[in-house]
Amino acid sequence: LSACQSMKGGHSTPPTRSMSRGSGLLWGVIGVCLWAAAVGFKPVIIVHGLFDSSGDFLTLSRFINESHPGTNVSVIDLFDRSSSLQPMWKQVEGFKAAIYPIMQNAEDGVNFICYSQGGLICRGILATLPDHNVHTFISLSSPQAGQYGDTDYLKYLFPQFMKSNLFHLCYTSVGQRISICNYWNDPHHRDMYVNSSDYLALLNSERENPKSAEWKTNFLKIKKLVLVGGPDDGVITPWQSSQFGFYDDNETVVEIQHQEVFLRDSFGLKTLGARGDLVICSMAGVQHVWWHSNETVYQTCIDKWLQ
Ligand SMILES: *[C@@H]1O[C@H](CO)[C@@H](O)[C@H](O)[C@H]1NC(C)=O
Ligand SMILES: *[C@@H]1O[C@H](CO)[C@@H](O)[C@H](O)[C@H]1NC(C)=O
Ligand SMILES: *[C@@H]1O[C@H](CO)[C@@H](O)[C@H](O)[C@H]1NC(C)=O
Ligand SMILES: *[C@@H]1O[C@H](CO)[C@@H](O)[C@H](O)[C@H]1NC(C)=O
Ligand SMILES: *[C@@H]1O[C@H](CO)[C@@H](O)[C@H](O)[C@H]1NC(C)=O
Repeated sequence: LSACQSMKGGHSTPPTRSMSRGSGLLWGVIGVCLWAAAVGFKPVIIVHGLFDSSGDFLTLSRFINESHPGTNVSVIDLFDRSSSLQPMWKQVEGFKAAIYPIMQNAEDGVNFICYSQGGLICRGILATLPDHNVHTFISLSSPQAGQYGDTDYLKYLFPQFMKSNLFHLCYTSVGQRISICNYWNDPHHRDMYVNSSDYLALLNSERENPKSAEWKTNFLKIKKLVLVGGPDDGVITPWQSSQFGFYDDNETVVEIQHQEVFLRDSFGLKTLGARGDLVICSMAGVQHVWWHSNETVYQTCIDKWLQ
């Protein structure tokens, strides 16, 4: 309980005439600490992104442990590195099996922090798990509205994953066996995206989905959606996709509140907004690989939602 110890330290002023008020304060602080120790913070479940693994979240785990002492943080160690290219539904089923027992052990619910592609995996879990108990869903620079762009990072890792190649690869049934293709969203070929994406277009109800009402009800069991992203990301393209903005067919970014999925409330975004449970946190100066390890990001966009 390091935070509690330092809070106590901060109040140990020399005895004065206001001693009784001071010690009242001190007892108040101790009370809060005892409460935190007894009630505890909700467990945090972290889902990683494309090409990374659980080891990349040690810094984030430390930030959480320091600000919310005693929190049980689980970084799910599945589909690491190149395995993260496996189809999104397969990953959803794998992560779900690992996460469900943690939820069942958490009577007050859990919080999700889902990074990059992991943010889309978490949406798949939230839509298809009727009895989930996720309180806050923090989406950390995830391509929530899809991805379209040649980023330096992708060019470097996989020259074959360039816009021109992905157009031909993704909009076929073979291409849909690769995770990126499940949310590759070419604004010049919307009809092909809608026809072929068997993941994002279904989650968004852009494509006919017989289960859309059920999925929306499940998703809306979350208490808060926090969308974190920023203009210097360099990988998520357009970066506004991290907050449900996306290109129109002219490659002009249309923000979340003018998006059809929002206006039609296809899966609950508009409802969350009306409830006051949609939080958008933008930060400049953060490159994609730093979102989970930048202390300013943690303090500004994450810390206060981990109750
Ligand atoms: C959390 O912080 C405490 C106190 O500083 C430390 O003893 C403990 O090892 C930390 N746990 C983790 C998982 O980092
Ligand atoms: C943390 O959560 C996991 C999954 O529910 C559980 O197995 C483990 O015992 C918990 N650890 C602590 C220290 O409570
Ligand atoms: C999309 O699917 C519809 C219905 O199956 C079909 O009529 C249409 O030609 C398809 N469009 C493209 C671009 O594949
Ligand atoms: C597309 O962009 C061009 C150039 O900026 C502009 O002249 C045109 O009006 C735009 N079209 C639409 C449909 O927004
Ligand atoms: C962390 O974020 C702050 C605020 O945006 C930024 O100024 C800083 O450069 C970032 N640090 C790293 C290592 O990305």
